[in-house]
Amino acid sequence: MAIRSFATSLLAAYLAIVQYVTSVTPTAAATAAPSPDTATFLHCLAVHLPPQAVYTNASRLYRIALESSIKNLLFVTPATPTPIAIVAAGNASHVQAAVRCGVRHGISVRPRSGGHDYEGLSYRSLRAGRPFAVVDLAWLRAVSVDVGNETAWVGSGATLGELYYAIANHSARLGFPGGVGPTVGVGGHLSGGGFGLLLRKHGLAADHVIDAVIVDAKGKLLDRAAMGEDLFWAIRGGGGGSFGIVLSWKLRLVRVPPVVTVFTIHRPRNQSTTALLTRWQQVAPAMPLVVLQNQDAQFESLYLGTCAGLVATMARSFPELGVKARDCIEMTWIQSVLYFAFYGTGKPMEQLLDRGTKPERYFKAKSDYVTEPMPSHAWESTWSWLLEDGAGLLILDPYGGRMGSVAPSATPFPHRQELYNLQYYGFWFENGTEAKEKHMGWITGLHREMEPYVSKNPRGAYVNYRDLDLGGYGKARVWGESYFKANFERLAAVKAKVDPHDFFRHEQSIPPLVSTLRNL
Ligand code: FDA
Repeated sequence: MAIRSFATSLLAAYLAIVQYVTSVTPTAAATAAPSPDTATFLHCLAVHLPPQAVYTNASRLYRIALESSIKNLLFVTPATPTPIAIVAAGNASHVQAAVRCGVRHGISVRPRSGGHDYEGLSYRSLRAGRPFAVVDLAWLRAVSVDVGNETAWVGSGATLGELYYAIANHSARLGFPGGVGPTVGVGGHLSGGGFGLLLRKHGLAADHVIDAVIVDAKGKLLDRAAMGEDLFWAIRGGGGGSFGIVLSWKLRLVRVPPVVTVFTIHRPRNQSTTALLTRWQQVAPAMPLVVLQNQDAQFESLYLGTCAGLVATMARSFPELGVKARDCIEMTWIQSVLYFAFYGTGKPMEQLLDRGTKPERYFKAKSDYVTEPMPSHAWESTWSWLLEDGAGLLILDPYGGRMGSVAPSATPFPHRQELYNLQYYGFWFENGTEAKEKHMGWITGLHREMEPYVSKNPRGAYVNYRDLDLGGYGKARVWGESYFKANFERLAAVKAKVDPHDFFRHEQSIPPLVSTLRNL
């Protein structure tokens, strides 16, 4: 009885704290961090790390190390504030040393896994006056597959391609429901949720994380049991670079059939495609994804079964698309990964191990969630936008299935009930302000025009399609609620618990909620 009443009052105290904590606005931590000291930080790295693991501005190979995984030419300019040091971590103790040196000398550290962050926040800062360092995890990329238990441990620095390759090398009947881009880093991808063509059957990539090893803001190495369930919840979708540096992840793999079927069908605008798109939205949660570019709609599908099954399913649910057996290509799951990654068949599996070369394009992306089908006049207007000089493309990723059956609070990723994710993607190859303004103007203009048709209060966005137009650190509640809705408060409370001095900080990192009751 006594124990029960103690537990009850503990629970009441906890709820009071939660209520208090969630009623305040996130602000910077109350206790100031030591003032940055670049020289002593670099000295600390030199003392605690082997010389070949540290690149400073003075190193001959600094720019090569910096640009090794940059994907966006926008951030390869002399004016971009870059790290004072890059630590190419070879093992956990290197990461721990970098964090401890950073904490001691007031230099924040940004983790980088695959470098695909849309705003480059894993290797650039918007504030020239605030030095920072990068811990690059590209060498921590071992994948160990346990076929019997249908699990795998993967280092954060592995790419999705390396992960899929390793799984397929061990078993043709296992796969993983992550994203399509093979050069995307596992570390950032899982940190923001991660979805690909298996999302209807299996949900988010982060839904399949069952353990992880992280270096926290004290430099401690923690697994799931040691970090506790709050932090384990936050790292599976709460966005990268806020809570610590995840070194590796234990994944529950999923079963895939021996044969899957893919198709890519093009429908030009003048083939009643507006009506087709309007109809597609009604059946979207069970249907192919769509890419809109120029005056063409490209329907792409992965079906977990044979062509006969796919054609029957499409005839039942979406006969308007007119899918025939001749549209199908049957293959294994890993061949389908190659098919969607590199557009076509017959590519060698080893292509998945290619981590990519230097960036070759400038790009800017934004995202929305569509809750109700858009009316056909909105599609007509979208076609007009796609005719404009500077137009990019739109990617419509339908949700539903397993994605929609997970509670929005089960992980930080809240957009479980949406019809589809809408990604606006502008890209160009010409250098210069004129080209940049033209393409940026297209993407922001279309995004503005779409407002009446997409999710509201808050207007949702996907954290893995990071967008600084939503605001920087001082606007945390705005972007925080767009990315995480009600889960934002809990993320900020976890942050206050695990990183109260805000060591892991970038332009859109989760700020700690200030609480005088923090120590209770
Ligand atoms: P990067 O290393 O830049 O990190 C991204 C963020 O996470 C940064 O804030 C970084 O500090 C932090 N971070 C990185 N490693 C961390 C670690 N180990 N621990 C803690 N924080 C860490 N998305 C999707 O859902 N489905 C898809 O199909 C695709 N496809 C795709 C293709 C291409 C070409 C691009 C450029 C992007 C995608 N994405 C995607 C988006 C992708 O999921 C997103 O950009 C990821 O955050 C990239 O992870 P990286 O590790 O590569 O990025």
